Amino acid sequence: MVRQQMLIRPGDAVLDDAKKFIDEFYASIEKFGSAEHLNRWSEIKTQIEESDGYIMKTEELKYGATVAWRNAPRCPGRIQWKKLQVFDSRHVGTAQGMFEAMCTHLQYATNGGILRSAITVFPPRQKGRCDFRVWNSTMIGYACYKQPDGTLLGDPFNLELTQAAQKLGWAGKGTRQDILPLIVQAGDGEAHFFDIPEDLVLQVPLRHPKYEKFTDLGYKWFALPGVSCLKLDCGGLEFSAIPFSGWYSDSEIGSRDLGDKHRFNLAPVMAGIMGLNTETNESNWRDLAVSELVVAVAHSFREAKITIVDHQTACETFIEHFKSEHEERGGCPTDWVWVNPPGSFTTPVYHQEVLFYWIKPLYDYQDQPWKTYNFGKHFRGTLEKREIDYLKRFRHMARAALFAQRMFMKAYANRTKAMILYATETGKSLGFAKQLAHVFSKAFKPEVMCMKDYDVAKMEFQDLILVVASTFGSGDPPDNGEKFYKSLKKRFVEQGNTPNIASDKPARLAARIQAQEGERNMRGPLVKLPSQRFEDPAQIVKSSDWLINVRFSCFALGSTVYKDYCAFGKALDALLGSLGAERIHRLECGDEMSGQEKTFKKWANDTFQAACEAFHIKLPTKAVVTIGTESVQEPVQSNMKLVSADASEGPHFTEYFSKSLGREVLPLKVTYNEVIAGSREAGPCTVQIRLSWQDLCLNNPVSFEPGDHLGILSENADEMVSKVIQKLNPIPSLEQTHRLMIQKEMLTIAGPRKEWVCYENLPPATVFDWFKKFLDITTPPTQSLLYDLATYATDPKEKEGLDMLSQDVGRYEQWKHSKWPTVLSFLEEFSLLSIPAEALIIKLPLMKPRFYSISSCLLSSPTCVDLTVGAVKFITEDGSSRNGLCSMYLNQATIGTTVNAFFRSEPRFHLPENPTVPIIMVGPGTGIAPFRSFWMHRAELMKVFSKGARKQLLCLGHCAPDIHKFGQHLGAAIFYGGYRTQELDLYREEKWKYHNMGAIELAATAYSREVVIEREFVQHKMMIDANARRIYELLDSHGGHIYVCGDFYMANDVKSVVVSIFQEYGNINADEAASAVENLINSGRYHEDIFGITVGARKTHLEYKRKARLMKDNAV
Ligand SMILES: Cc1cc2nc3c(=O)[nH]c(=O)nc-3n(C[C@H](O)[C@H](O)[C@H](O)COP(=O)(O)OP(=O)(O)OC[C@H]3O[C@@H](n4cnc5c(N)ncnc54)[C@H](O)[C@@H]3O)c2cc1C
Ligand SMILES: Cc1cc2nc3c(=O)[nH]c(=O)nc-3n(C[C@H](O)[C@H](O)[C@H](O)COP(=O)(O)O)c2cc1C
Repeated sequence: MVRQQMLIRPGDAVLDDAKKFIDEFYASIEKFGSAEHLNRWSEIKTQIEESDGYIMKTEELKYGATVAWRNAPRCPGRIQWKKLQVFDSRHVGTAQGMFEAMCTHLQYATNGGILRSAITVFPPRQKGRCDFRVWNSTMIGYACYKQPDGTLLGDPFNLELTQAAQKLGWAGKGTRQDILPLIVQAGDGEAHFFDIPEDLVLQVPLRHPKYEKFTDLGYKWFALPGVSCLKLDCGGLEFSAIPFSGWYSDSEIGSRDLGDKHRFNLAPVMAGIMGLNTETNESNWRDLAVSELVVAVAHSFREAKITIVDHQTACETFIEHFKSEHEERGGCPTDWVWVNPPGSFTTPVYHQEVLFYWIKPLYDYQDQPWKTYNFGKHFRGTLEKREIDYLKRFRHMARAALFAQRMFMKAYANRTKAMILYATETGKSLGFAKQLAHVFSKAFKPEVMCMKDYDVAKMEFQDLILVVASTFGSGDPPDNGEKFYKSLKKRFVEQGNTPNIASDKPARLAARIQAQEGERNMRGPLVKLPSQRFEDPAQIVKSSDWLINVRFSCFALGSTVYKDYCAFGKALDALLGSLGAERIHRLECGDEMSGQEKTFKKWANDTFQAACEAFHIKLPTKAVVTIGTESVQEPVQSNMKLVSADASEGPHFTEYFSKSLGREVLPLKVTYNEVIAGSREAGPCTVQIRLSWQDLCLNNPVSFEPGDHLGILSENADEMVSKVIQKLNPIPSLEQTHRLMIQKEMLTIAGPRKEWVCYENLPPATVFDWFKKFLDITTPPTQSLLYDLATYATDPKEKEGLDMLSQDVGRYEQWKHSKWPTVLSFLEEFSLLSIPAEALIIKLPLMKPRFYSISSCLLSSPTCVDLTVGAVKFITEDGSSRNGLCSMYLNQATIGTTVNAFFRSEPRFHLPENPTVPIIMVGPGTGIAPFRSFWMHRAELMKVFSKGARKQLLCLGHCAPDIHKFGQHLGAAIFYGGYRTQELDLYREEKWKYHNMGAIELAATAYSREVVIEREFVQHKMMIDANARRIYELLDSHGGHIYVCGDFYMANDVKSVVVSIFQEYGNINADEAASAVENLINSGRYHEDIFGITVGARKTHLEYKRKARLMKDNAV
């Protein structure tokens, strides 16, 4: 291959290479031919046509740099090619910037002796500017001085470079092993030298385990081999400065660097120490002495615990790599002369036939820059040489003084990206993700993204991934985490795991991976998974290690009330680890029932420290993050203010919600709202509420299936809002539209600067609207809110009380569960607090949407949706009454009220595709809600089937089963319901109507509080012999599906009953029955739609109060 130096490639040549490269890149992420691929290519083509070049994306550059290593015919250590940290330093414009980037590289790669391979890529060759170059052939190297007597002192390999450095004004100490300065040229072409700070150069004193005299010679060698003279030829572009480092093989130092005649030439010295006869080759003295030099090197590095590989192992692993490359790519370009170590005849590589060729992307050679550098050109005017030397030395010293500060600024300019991925159902994880971004913004470039929007294909190019995810349903991912989870599981299967493991629910998947990887790896303070392989350079990087360059940590939100506690977060943690990513901090689980926020803050703090360590980010004292015990991110009072805004700036709420939730929120109108059980005035009551979109002009037609949910954005009651506002000091105007501003520290190259910016969580609105529509004032204040509000205490007693509650988890939990305080009752309890509006507004969490199962069917009601809502009302232990926010909002919504809502698909609770498959529905209380839509849908199907008119359904635009495929008869559909009393039986007449039509079969109803009837729950009805036998047969022999909807405790009890039924009627033991039910779950035939813990809340609260009391007692 002919290589041109310093010539800009013509556009055509760039185009050819770029096309090939970009095709390969998209093939590698399995997106070849995708719209993204085609768009990217047309973008590149346009750029090349305009400028003969183009700007590579970071992920493309990372791909190119790793593949170039894979293609390097002369590198025997390529087995590790996937594990390469790529520092993208294309933004660097000056020699100083290059030096700083290389210091970061040295620090990262040296890693205290546990070396990590890394490459730093500076800007590519470009028309109209000089090449960026590093003059040193290796980043760290020893100088060589020609002595007056003509002998050389130092490493003769670097004689010319040392002389070039001296010409630039560098003066070494003149010892045998002086570290050379880094000499670099940026786009202006001027060469600059920089001494490398001593603490960045790890050197190993060389000792021989047997020959002390060798030790006495006082030689040393540097730990990090970093090649810095090559260029990267990739995608048509030429990156002329790409310092690259890995680790040493013992023979490279022992035999080449120390042993060779034209290097330190220590073979005769060692032979002398060994007492060998150096007069004659027949004594084989050179081979023997070099062997002992290699022994000394290996011994010294191992003793100092510095990564090194012995040449035998290096050769063995190279052969392994060579073979796997042949299998995977049909070849492996290899330069036999280079990959064979000295004395290689005992290694397997010696006998290996190889082919030597170059393929791109490629690390290529280039001319030594000092040969063509005009040293004279940069001398200033008529200054004497002495003055010039002085000036240079002064400049050099000034640079050193500025170094630490510049490193700090550089850390901001060139920060590592931290991708924060969240999945949330009710918004907490998003809040935590934002707090995490705030913490990481001190040293990283954080980006918060919902898992549903994340492109998993490019995950391998990420440096750092932080996951914050909750668990929902019954141990399932939240809706917006589902796609991400599926993609990771797909990768997991592709790396050779059996698909049936991947079909497991999150809890079981996590447990199985944990068992595979070893319990040890998942725990411990700072654990290193097998994927963290830099400790063992000989280790093959398997193709399965897809995320080999990625570091991660996960925070899982959940509630210990649920059996599968934090299952989704645990599964993600296990999956990422098993896909090769390196866990920088162990998984932490935050329990909603106790101390979730506190656990999160500790995890955020610890993970930040761990990430700084992993990326060798040192913060100057001023920037050190102090995540207080309680306050991660809250701005302080002086950093926020309310400013008046024009009323026209006020938001269109629906649009605002759509934007902030990332879902299409619709302003639905209440057209019907009737009590169907109980009474609004007293006791529990359930309402049927109808919401219509008839009069709306919609962008997309509404579409949902039976089993889907409606998300409701509720509003706080006017009375409560007014009372809260009255407690603020000063009381703000209720009519005035405001914008909430916060002061943010912006980091500019000139240093940190403060700027007022609009608080992004709230649109401009009146204070009343913020409290009514956005802020959560009904959930008990968290400990961290109490901590923050304690600063506004004017009364010492109140301050003491708040400090105690915010710091003592036991007392706090007891306070919370016995009083279930709202923000209003809290302000009434601590009545002397003097809190300004902006402080409370900024510190309160945002209201979360509530979900309701859709209780109607689109086929019968194409312009509206019904909900069945049980109003939550309860009395706290201290006798106060409390209302559920959303259920009461809906309960009291009058006809014509606008309710902001969005549809949420729940495919896990959809009817079977084949309508002839039997179904069993268990839905006591409001758990009946989705089943109403099931039987309405079935009734519509029956009508259509009877007319044989599937076309009719299709023209309605709704999905309908294929009559020809499945026949025209519906399978059995048995419904189990349960209520407190017969009076509270929901949709009684309607159920019988559908029963009589044949759309459902009604099993006997359970009544739990009926005086004349024995107290029973649905589980009891299911256990009746005839029912149990039928359930067993439908599920076991007829491929039936079971659907359970409602309270969590009920769902658990039902599951236990189904297990018992399998045991009894299947004549199997308890374990076999449990695994039969597990199989139903995993095969998608056991469906649960869990409302949460609302109904059983009292039971839960009592349990937590008991725990809190215990905690308190223990503390005493
Ligand atoms: C997927 C899904 C589907 C759902 N479908 C329906 C449905 O179809 N119909 C329906 O009615 N609900 C349904 N729910 C429940 C619904 O979303 C709400 O959780 C419920 O209406 C309560 O919300 P709220 O805003 O009124 O109460 P919140 O303001 O959220 O207050 C409820 C709080 O009060 C506490 N609490 C409740 N009862 C008591 C008590 N007795 N003692 C002490 N504390 C108590 C709870 O712990 C809880 O924290 C569903 C939930 C989910 C997740
Ligand atoms: C309907 C429902 C089901 C839930 N299921 C689980 C579960 O199976 N396991 C668990 O640990 N937590 C479960 N939780 C608790 C949530 O994970 C917890 O509330 C979390 O803090 C919510 O975070 P988010 O707002 O980011 O979604 C459930 C909560 C609800 C409301």
